[in-house]
Amino acid sequence: MKYALLGIGQAGLRHYEAFERIKGIKLIGFTEFDQKKAKKFSKKYNVKKYKNLNEIINLKPDFIIIALPHSFRVKEISLCCKNKINLIIEKPLALNINQLKLIEKYISSNKLIHTISFVHRYRKEVLKTKNLISNNYIGGLKFISEIMISQKNALLPKWIDIKKKSGGGVLLYNAIHSIDKLCFLANSNIDYVFAKKTNINKKIDVEDVITISINFKNGLLANLIAVFVPYKTTPKWETKIFGVSGQIDINIRKGLVLIKNNKIKNFDYSEYYKKKWSKL
Ligand SMILES: NC(=O)c1ccc[n+]([C@@H]2O[C@H](COP(=O)([O-])OP(=O)(O)OC[C@H]3O[C@@H](n4cnc5c(N)ncnc54)[C@H](O)[C@@H]3O)[C@@H](O)[C@H]2O)c1
Repeated sequence: MKYALLGIGQAGLRHYEAFERIKGIKLIGFTEFDQKKAKKFSKKYNVKKYKNLNEIINLKPDFIIIALPHSFRVKEISLCCKNKINLIIEKPLALNINQLKLIEKYISSNKLIHTISFVHRYRKEVLKTKNLISNNYIGGLKFISEIMISQKNALLPKWIDIKKKSGGGVLLYNAIHSIDKLCFLANSNIDYVFAKKTNINKKIDVEDVITISINFKNGLLANLIAVFVPYKTTPKWETKIFGVSGQIDINIRKGLVLIKNNKIKNFDYSEYYKKKWSKL
């Protein structure tokens, strides 16, 4: 299979590294606004940079990965779908509801494969949790508490703080993964949401704190707090799942704890992450 990359920033590079591990898949071209970055990548990996998406489409790739800032979705998705090219779209699918309406007909009517890069639901600890829940280890789910705290470090792209380019702050860059994970674990659609946002950093025009209360259609309640702190912090990504007969705590990149019948069982995956996925 041959594929192309739009954008070789942080996410684009991770896609490249991941696909390099799979036999029979070849990167045939990429686009990138930053000429310096493009030249370096092109030389290092011997891949050609193309001027625009039309040139990439002419190469007839089996799929294209969109790893661009959030404001570049409508034209890119529409053009690829019109040309019957499968897509991996970095989250979020759209900048806002209006843009979502513009691409809806393409992503719902075509017989193409589109996937949004909600990668975290596939982590070992999340899949194990899903398996324990499905096998009724903690009974029916009643409540999930999710907390996500991280530092917005200086290496992150600047566009994430500009609403016109990002569409939003911590919600669209980070917490969208938590929402996906909660839906995956809940195995239900969302019925009702109440959310509030605020800013620790007053200099940016997107939120860096959100608190969301989610009611799922199956009766499960969830609470999500996400904070993107502009200073050094104590980072945390923790999920506590309460069922009628037990509890599961997920610690991303570390493992999970199952509490049942007053006994605690640890599933420690830290070695797995050290060995296998050191960069991810
Ligand atoms: N799934 C994840 O865990 C994850 C992690 C980080 C970022 N992301 C997502 O990946 C996407 C990209 O984010 P990022 O952090 O890699 O940003 P980034 O700024 O590091 O990368 C974007 C790249 O696109 C280039 N670019 C901008 N406009 C372009 C255009 N029109 N044509 C070609 N190149 C263009 C920029 O020069 C930059 O190199 C976003 O949707 C972001 O939310 C996902």
